[in-house]
Parts: sequence; C-alpha cells; structure tokens
Amino acid sequence: MKWNAALYQTDHAFVFRHGEAVVEWLDPRPGERILDLGCGTGELTAKIRESEALVEGADSSADMIHRAKQSFPLVPFQVLDARSLPFEEEFDAVFSNATLHWIQEQDQVIDSVYRTLKPGGRFVAEFGGKGNVQSITDALATAMAGAGLPFKAIWNFPTPASFALLLEQSGFRVEMLHYFDRETRLAAGDDAMVKWLTMFGASFFGDATPQQQQTVVEEAVGILKKTNYRDGQWYADYVRLRLIAKK
Ligand code: BEZ
Repeated sequence: MKWNAALYQTDHAFVFRHGEAVVEWLDPRPGERILDLGCGTGELTAKIRESEALVEGADSSADMIHRAKQSFPLVPFQVLDARSLPFEEEFDAVFSNATLHWIQEQDQVIDSVYRTLKPGGRFVAEFGGKGNVQSITDALATAMAGAGLPFKAIWNFPTPASFALLLEQSGFRVEMLHYFDRETRLAAGDDAMVKWLTMFGASFFGDATPQQQQTVVEEAVGILKKTNYRDGQWYADYVRLRLIAKK
C-alpha cells in the first residue's frame, strides 16, 4: 500500500484524534521505553512523548516516516515491518492505533510484538474489528461489480475471539478486550467520503484505470449517501477492537 502522507495528515486527522483514547489505555509513564507501531505521521507518538516516556515510532511506509521526522524532529522514527521487528525484550510497551487491520499476517505481528516486549510488558492496541466499515466495503464491492472489475477485500477485521486466541497462542494474557461500534465523523466537507475512498480504498482498485476508479468512487458515494451522510456530514461505520495484553 502506497500512502500519501501529506493528505493523510490534513484530511484524515480524525484517525489520530480518536487514538487519544487509546493513549489513555496505554497510560505511559516517564522513562518507559515504548514503541508506537504503525505510527503514520507521528501525532500520537508525539502525544505519548508528553508523558516523558522514551517513545519511538515505526511504520512500514517511508513516506509516513519522512513526514513524521519533519513534524516531530525530537522523536526517533524508523521504517520497520511489524511482522519482523528487530527487537528482543527491549520495550516496556508496544502501542498501535488503526494499523493492524492492514496486515493479513496478524499472527506474525503478535509474535513479533511478544518478542519485542520485556517480560511483564504490555501491548495496547486498537484497530478495526469484524464488521468494520461494512457499508463502505459493500458499496465498493457493488460499484466494482457494476464496472466489471474484480473485487478482493484487503482489510483484516478479526472477531474478538479469534484475535484473543492469537494473543494467547503467542503467550500473552489478555487483560482487557473491548469490541464496540464507533460511528466516526469524517473530515468536514461534502467530498469527505470521496477523499476517504480515494485514500483508504485505493488498494482495492488494482489495475483499474483512473477513469474506472473515478466511476467506482462516484457510484459508491451515491450508494453511501443514503446511509452514511446526514446534515451535511459524512460518517463511517467503524467497529473497534481495543485491547491490553500482558507478556
Ligand atoms: C479503520 O481505521 O478502521 C480503517 C481505516 C481505513 C481503512 C479501513 C479501516
């Protein structure tokens, strides 16, 4: 997935706005070494740093890391693959917001996080759970079919039970696991759903031409207008999994 970090930072700020509640679950302490996994443009990493924790950001996108370094020059950031982190029992906590649903091999990420944590360390994460953005996925599938394009879902939204099982198989003890609906107001503006689909839905489009992509986005937005738009504002039907697991 190729990210446009500048647009992510300006048009999708609600992602890190909601992440602040996850930072509260993390409850970072001065001097703790914390890894922000999937840090994107670094806003939450910087938020965690306010607690005087020794926080570092990691993301698989070089564009995101470049942007994060520019925005927060005092915070260490690096490009890393969450499935194969190069750490052995070095961190007190691993934090992750709105990242895990982009990764098919979630079992590998959990094993990798487990290795990264010191004994007693905690994994605090939030991401999309089963049913997340279902209306949007359905609208995209319908629009793609209408355009004669193959549709393949790329997101991985697990059930709480299946994700807890992966955590336990890795050796974690699941301390808290919440599964909840959180309808999420997108950025202001009538084009907010177009922007969301263009940024986050781009990986669905495969070999579609720009013209086909535009047709699909317009068609999907038309479908979604009936359910996800009210009083001049667009909403996404987010469903979250939020957890604390201890090593
Ligand atoms: C999410 O945060 O749930 C999400 C964001 C973009 C695409 C899919 C899901």
